[in-house]
This record gives sequence, structure tokens and C-alpha cells, in this order.
Amino acid sequence: MVIMDNDWGSITFIPFLLALKADWKVLGLTSCTCNSWEHQQSLHALATLALGNLTPCVPVIQGATFPLLNTYQRFQAWEMVHGALPYEGVFRPYNATLEALGSDPTAGDDPWRIIPEAFTEGFPSAALVDALHSNPANAASFMVEQVRKYPGQVSIYVAGAMTNVALAVRMDPHFADLAKELVIMGGYLDVNLFQVRGSLQQADDNSDINLMIDPEAAKITLTAAWPSIKIAGNVANQVINSQAFLDEVYQVENPYSTIFYNNYGTYFPFWDETAAALMVDPSIILNSTTFYVDVDTSYGSPSYGNLHAYQKSLMPTGVRNVTYIHQIDGDRLHSMIKAAVQYPATC
Ligand SMILES: *[C@@H]1O[C@H](CO)[C@@H](O)[C@H](O)[C@H]1NC(C)=O
Ligand SMILES: *[C@@H]1O[C@H](CO)[C@@H](O)[C@H](O)[C@H]1NC(C)=O
Ligand SMILES: *[C@@H]1O[C@H](CO)[C@@H](O)[C@H](O)[C@H]1NC(C)=O
Repeated sequence: MVIMDNDWGSITFIPFLLALKADWKVLGLTSCTCNSWEHQQSLHALATLALGNLTPCVPVIQGATFPLLNTYQRFQAWEMVHGALPYEGVFRPYNATLEALGSDPTAGDDPWRIIPEAFTEGFPSAALVDALHSNPANAASFMVEQVRKYPGQVSIYVAGAMTNVALAVRMDPHFADLAKELVIMGGYLDVNLFQVRGSLQQADDNSDINLMIDPEAAKITLTAAWPSIKIAGNVANQVINSQAFLDEVYQVENPYSTIFYNNYGTYFPFWDETAAALMVDPSIILNSTTFYVDVDTSYGSPSYGNLHAYQKSLMPTGVRNVTYIHQIDGDRLHSMIKAAVQYPATC
């Protein structure tokens, strides 16, 4: 069983298709603020589930609107001192033209605004939106409730900022240890040279927006007492999409393969997909090591929101071990994605 927390967008459906295809029970999709505001992203979760008629069996639960401490102003001020990021996620300056052209909303005065132009996958029906908005649960309460209901059985997957999970960790002292595991996308290590010796895309691929949007939440989450933590950081850049793979997947046409073909592009690595694939089938992991990590939460640091690793004899108090994945079987990742998109699971 898994609860999948993400900054859901138009092309973010492969992670839940991978889990469903592997016969995992997806207890719910929860949404976090990271690439864009949570409200918009929860509607993308609904809309992309609806593409495969999956809304009856996978609920969507809204998460926190704001990071624990970070704000647009605070993030911009940090960038003035420490340098701009190639990609700022939800903290990219508000741009009305971009939003009218179909970008998910960033910054601005109203984090609850919805930009319908961004729904290339189709806008969810009024009935689905009403049901979402009338659900009094929030992501953190849902996670706590489900983990208490199925102790030791629920994986928590996070491929955006960790705000919702950190809230759950703080709400219930046994939430983390009663879960089965935590699997995250993000947590790059030793990538500073890649940020400078290459294109802006390469710098983007090696910056850590998921942790940097909410550094304090990342620290709370990664120091909690989970039975196990798997980190898909650097390895999430291993397999990059290609035109050949798009063509191959599109040999079978359905709503998912069509959006994948038309909108995924060929310059992004399979970030969230890698984390989902190694969760549902750890046998694709070829190389990993176990060590201790912390998250830099010094606002005055150029590494604010980045992971820092330790060996046991040198670690500070309050940190815990993680399994850091270095390499996966890229061919098997391709075949898992192909199967899940061409022949998606049904309810
Ligand atoms: C807003 O986005 C448009 C469209 O990409 C761009 O031409 C314009 O320069 C942007 N405005 C600012 C202030 O960045
Ligand atoms: C595993 O990955 C580490 C880190 O990238 C590397 O140093 C090591 O050589 C790899 N081991 C194998 C067996 O590939
Ligand atoms: C990692 O930590 C867990 C929980 O404290 C412990 O059970 C496990 O043995 C540790 N694994 C390694 C390889 O240190």
C-alpha cells in the first residue's frame, strides 16, 4: 500500500500508473506545494486519474498550501544573497502572460487561484472538484489515519516538497515508525560541479527544488523514525527521456500515451518515475549504500535545503541512516514505464 504525495501536474501520472500496474494499493494521492501551488496541483491529480477512469478507486486529498517557513519573499531574498536557481518552482515570480499561456501558477497574491489553461490533460468535472473541496481531510491527517489503520504496511512516497509528511510526523509521534518506509525523489549529493560545468538544464537537473522549497520539512521528514528510507537523488537523473522512447510507447494509443507523447518532452530525466519504480520493484536497484543524512536548514547557507551525508563515526546526533540509490537498471525502468502507460491498470 502506498500514499503518493506529489506536486501533480499534467504529465505526472506515470508514478501512480507504475504503482497500480505493480498491483499496489494506492490509498490516495496527496498534493503539496512545490512546482506550483497545492490547489492547482490537486486538480491535476484528479484530472490525470480521470484520464484512465481511476478516480473511483484512488482518492485525492489536498495538502498544506504553504511550506512550513518559506515564503516567496524569503526565497527571493535568499537568491539575492546566494545566487539564482535555474528553476524556482512555485517561487518563480508571478507572470500573468505565462499563466494565460498555460503555465501552472507561481507566486502572486492568491495561492488558491486556478489556471484552467494549464490543464492540457482536460479539466476535471465539476462533480469531482466539488467532492475534492468538500472533503474535510487534509494530506497530513489522511496519512496519519491510514498508517494507523494499516500499521507496517504503508509506504509513503514523496516526489515534491515534504511539507505534508513533516506535518504528519509532528502530529503523531508514531506516524513514521508505523509506516513501512519513506521513498523520496530528491536529495542530490556532490553535484556542485555539474551545476556550473554545463547548460542551465544540467544545472536544473542537479539542483534540489523538492527539498529547497521547504527545507525545514525535509529535515523533519528525513530525521524521523521510519523503518527505512530510500532516496532517489542523483540516480533520478540516470535515465532521460528520448524521442525513440516516446515513439515506442505511442505505438499503443490511449489518453496517457497521447499526453506522454505530446507533452513530456525529451530533455527531462525520469525523476519521479525512477523513485516510483524502485519503490514498487527494488530489484531494479543495482547499487546503493547506507549512510546518515541531514538537511541544511541554515538560511544563511548557500546549501540551504540541500542534503548533507555522514559516516556513522562522524555523524551528529539526531540523524538516521538512509539507503541512497546510486544506480538502477535503466532498461527495466523503460519497460516498466512502457507497460504502465500502454496498458494502464483499471479500477
Ligand atoms: C513573462 O512571460 C512572458 C512569456 O514567456 C515573457 O515574454 C516575459 O518576459 C515575462 N515577463 C517577465 C517580467 O519576466
Ligand atoms: C556504486 O556506486 C558508487 C557511487 O557512485 C561507486 O563509487 C561504486 O563504484 C559503485 N559500485 C559498483 C559495484 O558499481
Ligand atoms: C538503519 O537503521 C535501522 C533503524 O535504526 C536499523 O534497523 C538498521 O540496522 C540500520 N541499517 C544499517 C545498514 O545501518
